[in-house]
Amino acid sequence: MPGPRGHDVSPVPLAVGCAGSYPARMPGLIPIAEDIWLAEGGNVNFYGFTYPTRSVVVRLPGRELWVWSPIALSDDLRAEIAAIGRPCHLVSPNKIHHLYLQDWKAAYPDALLWGPRSTIQKRGDLRFQGALEEVAPPEWQGVFDLAWFRGSRFLDEIVFFHRPSRTAILADMSENFTEAFLERYWSGWQRAVARLWGIVEGKGYAPLELRLSFIFRSDLRKARDKVLAWNPRRAIMAHGRWQDDNGRAFLERAFAWIG
Ligand SMILES: [Fe+2]
Repeated sequence: MPGPRGHDVSPVPLAVGCAGSYPARMPGLIPIAEDIWLAEGGNVNFYGFTYPTRSVVVRLPGRELWVWSPIALSDDLRAEIAAIGRPCHLVSPNKIHHLYLQDWKAAYPDALLWGPRSTIQKRGDLRFQGALEEVAPPEWQGVFDLAWFRGSRFLDEIVFFHRPSRTAILADMSENFTEAFLERYWSGWQRAVARLWGIVEGKGYAPLELRLSFIFRSDLRKARDKVLAWNPRRAIMAHGRWQDDNGRAFLERAFAWIG
């Protein structure tokens, strides 16, 4: 098991394409700075591609927990969560990252659900507190800043910045797969696709089809500029090796395609 800092901590021994199948003991919460943790989940199958899952958990004042892109909720994870606080905010950054919201809402009925309008429209079965755009709701102000990557009919995403730890948090606007992960879980032609898409270490781009879907880029450029102006120390993405330092430089390269 690699160390918690700046490494791809996600790969745990899982079978290829085993959505819904998890080892008996997941790594649990991994502290990365004060009041911010990672939780590495199992793999999911996304149109035939094996994707690892990852949550970020942040503690707000009053031991309220903010849970980004919730992973599958196990009893072990619940126990670790209980030790650090109480989930009060369940956050979907984009309409692809919504899979376990209902399980967490069932486990923590008082928690508020948040997401962009696209997630809210997709998950009509859930009641959200409000649509996230570019300004943090009052509950998180002073702790989080938001940037809204939009201009694609395919996908928009809210990127977050945790001010106290200077951590930028991205779902699919940067994917940074390691060769080791791809070797293990993706077939030869899939690995070729990963390199073509630029979702590998050394680039860390968003997938090509997502990039191409941004036709009008003025809002996208504004969002990019906002993220870079945060001058993040860390950049954590949902898929792949996250960055413990030089986050701004990493993201400058990851967003190079925006132009
Ligand atoms: Fe994703």
